[in-house]
Amino acid sequence: MMRRLIFCVLACATLTLHAHADDLDVALDKLAPGPDRDAILLGRNIVFDTPRYAAKYVSGGISCASCHINGGRQAHASPWYGIVGVMPAYSARSATVASLEQRINECFRRSENGSPLPFGSAEMNGLLAYMSFISKGVPAGEFGPGRGMGKLAGADRPDALHGKTIYGQKCAACHGANGGGLQSNGSYSVPPLWGDASYNIGASMARVGPAAAFIKHNMPLGQGDTLTDQEALDVAYYVTRQPRPDLAGKAADWPNGGKPADARY
Ligand code: HEC
Ligand code: HEC
Repeated sequence: MMRRLIFCVLACATLTLHAHADDLDVALDKLAPGPDRDAILLGRNIVFDTPRYAAKYVSGGISCASCHINGGRQAHASPWYGIVGVMPAYSARSATVASLEQRINECFRRSENGSPLPFGSAEMNGLLAYMSFISKGVPAGEFGPGRGMGKLAGADRPDALHGKTIYGQKCAACHGANGGGLQSNGSYSVPPLWGDASYNIGASMARVGPAAAFIKHNMPLGQGDTLTDQEALDVAYYVTRQPRPDLAGKAADWPNGGKPADARY
């Protein structure tokens, strides 16, 4: 057990480093120094370390890139290539046409279990600048490959007990037996899957469908698409049934219907 943990500490640290120190930084280095580049860099920093760079709005241990892997640059991990050119768009959950700022704040309120960013704040504009930067080359109105989390074909009814076994075998070494993630030097190298520092029950990741698809394509980290659909569904069921923060105002969701069957309230 201890050997596996040590392996994980090393492997996870390497993997998280890899998530930023790649072609993204090369592209950012090529930008002319100045306020525009500073805004993109602030956005990049918020995406990869939200608790530190948006500390006023977030108190948990989750960063945007915990789910939007590689900073929104990974198919089936809700990528953002082209997002700036397809918003505003209708959302059944709020029954409104939402702007990109409003959509970002939905993730602040739910996935980050935090509070919304003021429109026009340096943090909000940084995120918008970053998303424009990574959307470069995608025609307005189109989206890059693999939007959302994808869908699972062929998964049967979830088996919570089997999910618990898979969790112990394939997830706990990094995310912890108690789902609390892994902290080093006061920040998380592996994000929590449940508990007070995780996303709240209003987050899409708290629903078994999106969680199963995300897990299938992206987890265990670095070994995406190795679980069967049934294994991904079972472990997602186990994870989404664990305790996590509540969402104030959840009763106002889906006011005109369309609530997905796997919503937790
Ligand atoms: C706990 C996981 C999680 C975290 C953390 C998270 N998100 Fe999300 N986000 C999601 C999910 C799930 C979706 C919906 C994907 C889908 O439509 O299938 C989403 C959707 C989005 C979208 C819309 C994407 C689209 O294709 O329409 C944006 C923009 C977004 N998130 C921004 C952010 C930002 C910015 C942060 C950090 C402040 C963040 N998210 C943190 C899970 C997360
Ligand atoms: C090698 C370590 C490792 C293993 C093993 C692993 N994960 Fe992860 N997981 C991570 C890291 C690190 C992230 C954040 C993504 C990033 O930083 O690139 C993450 C993110 C996640 C997320 C989204 C963020 C959150 O906090 O909910 C979920 C859900 C998740 N993992 C579930 C699982 C499940 C289920 C398994 C087992 C099938 C698993 N992981 C195995 C390291 C791991």
